[in-house]
Amino acid sequence: DHQPLVDPFGRAITYLRVSVTDRCDFRCVYCMSEDMAFLPKRDLLTLEELDRICSVFVGKGVRKLRITGGEPLVRRDIMTLFRSLSRHLETDALDELTLTTNGSQLARHAADLASCGVRRINVSLDTLDDGKFRRITRWGDLTKVLGGVDAAQRAGLKVKINTVALKGTNEDEIETLLGWAHERGMDLTLIEVMPLGEIDSERIDQYLPLSLVRARLAQRFTLTEIDERTGGPARYVRVTETGGTLGFITPMTHNFCESCNRVRLTCTGQLFMCLGQEDAADLRAPVRASESDAALEQAIVAAIARKPKGHDFVIDRRHARPALARHMSVTGG
Ligand code: GTP
Ligand code: 5AD
Ligand code: SF4
Repeated sequence: DHQPLVDPFGRAITYLRVSVTDRCDFRCVYCMSEDMAFLPKRDLLTLEELDRICSVFVGKGVRKLRITGGEPLVRRDIMTLFRSLSRHLETDALDELTLTTNGSQLARHAADLASCGVRRINVSLDTLDDGKFRRITRWGDLTKVLGGVDAAQRAGLKVKINTVALKGTNEDEIETLLGWAHERGMDLTLIEVMPLGEIDSERIDQYLPLSLVRARLAQRFTLTEIDERTGGPARYVRVTETGGTLGFITPMTHNFCESCNRVRLTCTGQLFMCLGQEDAADLRAPVRASESDAALEQAIVAAIARKPKGHDFVIDRRHARPALARHMSVTGG
């Protein structure tokens, strides 16, 4: 049947985020611990299985697919998945096929992504300082990421920079990042750190409320609220002085769960109905049980029926343990 997916709170599910691998070539200090253990490769869904699940979601009214990870471009043969999913753009079943990447492998893939109908990508980048970049990512090479960003722009991709605001680490660099991104015609979105997974330091020491960042920026720039809709959780302002757009993703200071339109598939076929809750539905069993999609469709409908109202993240001194054991790299944010 062609009933669209609607959750118990009346929210239509039109956006699927797909983490194609939990692995990453970086170990950002707010994302992972240095000795992070990854899943054995045999547990992964094949690219064909991922494609099948995505396609059933598209059949059920999902209009936007975002490929994430871990780092999606470290998954072997990942362009096969993009190429295959691009058929849904051609038939207008899908509005957008996109990805979120750390940019390390982007130079190699930019042209192919564009040829698969990807028009807009998000690149995670928290600093423009070499040394700081190495401290945040633990061994990442900033030059490679900047090269990736350039290659993406040359390939005609619209690039949005995602920056996690980190207390004492990049808080003095937000204006620089803003100027840099806007000069190059890229939007910038700031993100509040969320308490997901064990890391090697305390969340509270990283957490920087964006209300504070915004107030500081407002002393230097004219920020005008705009009603831009990308289907994501960011709220946007126009920056008069640069002519660019600045987004704020504020799970901590301003919860946006009320307008949530998305669910998340992991690389092992678990469907998370909320980034901030433990509950997940297994789609691997139904995808493997039968060639027909009927069981899979049923499992998806049943999962959406248990989508929770929202997250209940807190970051403070009294919550020493992370709210969730799961790392962001499992669900891709
Ligand atoms: P566009 O608006 O299409 O550019 O993308 P997006 O903001 O949906 O995707 P992106 O990958 O740029 O997401 C950025 C970050 O926002 C994610 O990594 C998460 O940190 C956060 N985020 C996205 N969706 C949710 C959500 O449903 N809940 C929470 N708490 N955070 C989210
Ligand atoms: N809180 C907020 N953002 C996070 N990211 C990774 N871990 C966290 C966290 N705990 C970000 C990355 C990337 C996006 C996919 O998620 O920097 O921009
Ligand atoms: Fe990798 Fe992104 Fe996590 Fe950094 S934030 S370790 S780039 S998945």
